[in-house]
Amino acid sequence: MDLLNIVVLAAGKGKRMHSDLPKVLHPLAGRPLLQHVLECAAALGPQQVCVVYGHGGEAVPQAMREHAAKFVLQEPQLGTGHAVQQALPHLADDSRTLVLYGDVPLIQRSTLHQMRQAAADGLVLLTIRLDNPTGYGRILRDVQGDVLGIVEEKDATAEQREIGEVNTGILLAPTKLLRQWLAKLRNNNVQGEYYLTDIVSMAVAQGIAVHTVQPAHEWEILGINSKVQLAALERTWQREQAQHLLEQGVTLADPARLEVRGALACGRDVTIDVGCVFEGEVHLGDGVRVGAYSVIRDARIASGTHIEPYSHIVQTEIGADCRIGPYARLRPGSKLGDGVHIGNFVEVKNSDIAAHSKANHLSYIGDSSVGSRVNVGAGTITCNYDGANKHRTIIEDDVFIGSDTQLVAPVTVRRGATIGAGSTITRDAPENTLTLSRAKQATVPGWQRPVKGKL
Ligand code: UD1
Ligand code: CA
Repeated sequence: MDLLNIVVLAAGKGKRMHSDLPKVLHPLAGRPLLQHVLECAAALGPQQVCVVYGHGGEAVPQAMREHAAKFVLQEPQLGTGHAVQQALPHLADDSRTLVLYGDVPLIQRSTLHQMRQAAADGLVLLTIRLDNPTGYGRILRDVQGDVLGIVEEKDATAEQREIGEVNTGILLAPTKLLRQWLAKLRNNNVQGEYYLTDIVSMAVAQGIAVHTVQPAHEWEILGINSKVQLAALERTWQREQAQHLLEQGVTLADPARLEVRGALACGRDVTIDVGCVFEGEVHLGDGVRVGAYSVIRDARIASGTHIEPYSHIVQTEIGADCRIGPYARLRPGSKLGDGVHIGNFVEVKNSDIAAHSKANHLSYIGDSSVGSRVNVGAGTITCNYDGANKHRTIIEDDVFIGSDTQLVAPVTVRRGATIGAGSTITRDAPENTLTLSRAKQATVPGWQRPVKGKL
């Protein structure tokens, strides 16, 4: 494909958001609006991406610093044509320039790809027919249907306002021509702005072909100006993702009650109950079931595993055929083998738990390595923190930890050991034997309960 520059306009104020956060940094599906656009841009393999920012000071470049883009300040903001002018010094003449918008987050790569293929030279506009075109620039065509220009709503005659085909704002132009056209822009219009859209009539006057392409979906070109529009587009996008999962064979208890804020990849026969939130990159293997109201971020869950309701799982790898929850909390750096059971009110952090081990009730397993077939009794706590440093707990294969045990790290419980319930273990426990630390039980004869009001 030809060489490509991409300019992303993101200087607008976003006054109607009623927020101190620059408009393009508000999240949709868990990521800033502008990030969606930059990720889509990057996928096109451009030579240069240039973001034109304005309001919000350095917050925009700061928030997007991990993206390979040039940030150019537009101050003051004199219109879309003026905005693209700011980027021109950074654009190579031997490329074409694609103009995108930081507040139009859901534009799809496939649509932009179609624009690139529409013509090798000339101007390509992304247009769409809307039932209600109010607010948009209208596409003017001659009797043959060739594009003549774009007229902004505010400059349009009543007759022109009847036109249903509108300018999405997204366009592709040879950079050399764009440079020439932008140099000729005037702001003699109702808004006193330098309109990018005026380049269309310039192209027509020069006899340069103007092509139009339509997006596959209307939501791709919807811009965000208010929280109302943001919430509406969020719902559209969530419905879209749910639809996609259903088409792949995923069972969703209710497609309207699923949130995907990132990428969710599912195997065959996956079932997801209501109210689940998936963030970052989540992979669910064949036959995985996720119970209601679970939150899962950046995790891999292997086939046959069931996540029971209200579980919270972050940066964790879970093996096959595990039973997790209800009310389990798996924190970053955890890795569970096959057939592991983690029950209610069990927290696991930065720990490996090997195959067929169980911690079914009320435990904290932190900074630990747990072997296979280990049984961790109810209420067991690894005391991993001495107030200054974290230490590891090692529990080898086939260990049985009695209920309400504290394992004071660093400590090792050797293979096959049994720890008596209620123990505080501060030294290594030898293999294949019982270790316990427990005050002797005593009964005090003649003892009586205190009685109220009696000294
Ligand atoms: C623009 C188009 C209109 C199109 C509509 C689609 C022009 C003149 N008009 O109108 O034909 O139908 O978009 O939504 O281009 N921006 C800057 N700097 C500026 C001005 C704008 O970065 O000086 C950015 C804004 O942040 C916004 C985008 O450009 O993301 C569009 O600007 P806006 O003023 O909203 O243009 P519209 O009037 O909607
Ligand atoms: Ca707009």
